[in-house]
Amino acid sequence: MKFAKRMDRFGEGVFSKLAEIKKRKLEAGEQVIDLSIGAPNIPPVERIRKILSEEAMKPENYIYAISDQKALLEAVSDWYQRRYGVTLDPETEVCSLLGSQEGLSHIAMTIVDDGDLVLVPDPCYPVFADGPVLAGAELYYMPQKKENGYLIQLKEIPEEIARRAKFMVVSYPNNPTAVMAPASFYEELVAFAKKYDMIVLHDNAYSELVFDGKSCGSFLQFPGAKEVGVEFNSLSKTYGLAGARIGFCVGNHEVVEKLKTLKSNMDYGMFLPIQKAAIEAITGDQSCVAETRAAYEHRRDVLCDGLNGIGWTMKKPEATMFVWAKIPEKFTNSEKFAMELVERTGVLVTPGSAFGPSGEGHVRMALVQDDEALHAAIQAIDESGILK
Ligand SMILES: Cc1ncc(COP(=O)(O)O)c(C=O)c1O
Repeated sequence: MKFAKRMDRFGEGVFSKLAEIKKRKLEAGEQVIDLSIGAPNIPPVERIRKILSEEAMKPENYIYAISDQKALLEAVSDWYQRRYGVTLDPETEVCSLLGSQEGLSHIAMTIVDDGDLVLVPDPCYPVFADGPVLAGAELYYMPQKKENGYLIQLKEIPEEIARRAKFMVVSYPNNPTAVMAPASFYEELVAFAKKYDMIVLHDNAYSELVFDGKSCGSFLQFPGAKEVGVEFNSLSKTYGLAGARIGFCVGNHEVVEKLKTLKSNMDYGMFLPIQKAAIEAITGDQSCVAETRAAYEHRRDVLCDGLNGIGWTMKKPEATMFVWAKIPEKFTNSEKFAMELVERTGVLVTPGSAFGPSGEGHVRMALVQDDEALHAAIQAIDESGILK
């Protein structure tokens, strides 16, 4: 059989190697504490699950949804107004996604042709790069370095690269580095995109997971943002709805319309009970959002305080559900460190190099385990002597 060259990109990566070790350890009855994948383990509150189950019992809800219900589009538009102070036309500026991952992977097909250039952060959430590559684009990596607070330095992007690029992907609060961007960054970003006639895709998956009493808004609240781009949002982490696959692409109407057209040729829309659950999530009592935020903040404190206490020094992240930590000094390679860590302790983390070349020297730990497992991870790391 002959397959497409584009599939070569998805060969045996570090994730499959880690999964293999995890499987082997579990089969041998050993402890494994998986902090590698950002799969949230906080379920949606009862009011959301109730709507989903009630709607799932209605026979009429099993037709193809085809498109977004008016009530869903309006709920999203109201949510953006209420939460971010951003006005959206529900008809033309909102599109639902089968998880924001789905939209992020497909949207490149509506913007680039073979050989076009796309700017992606480095390190970055993998689909930011995979989507454009699947669509035939070339990538230019915009480093997010520690010395710059892990922020993209727009001024350092060469003129000819900026002129060639068709779109750029930006995302703060950031996965994996867990930093936020100041307003001045977004103002500069809008001016940059206008100057070079470039579309901006901003991923705002973690806007509700901002800690220590701080908060953040939306890219679209900055003047001119809607002229240059769109924002992706997700109910996966905020409402614990990861498995239900609910996300949105909102903002510039031309970009949204093109994505809707592509999707109308690829899928038949979101299962109607899930549309209803999404409406319930964003229009109902929002105290669950604060509770989820507090849970992740607490886990952050447990993990960071614990690891700092045993001699693995790291800063507490200000947002997201990840800890981005430098690997201990005696190691020079993040993959080797992650492999040795899981072998010796059963603690699974993601090597920074999996997120791009600038991720080397770091690992990402996802706050997806409860206190007990986090304490067990800290103890196992301490007792293994790997930090000494
Ligand atoms: C930055 C970022 N964007 C998007 C996603 C995908 O979210 P969804 O579940 O909406 O597809 C994730 C998931 O971990 C993420 O970290």
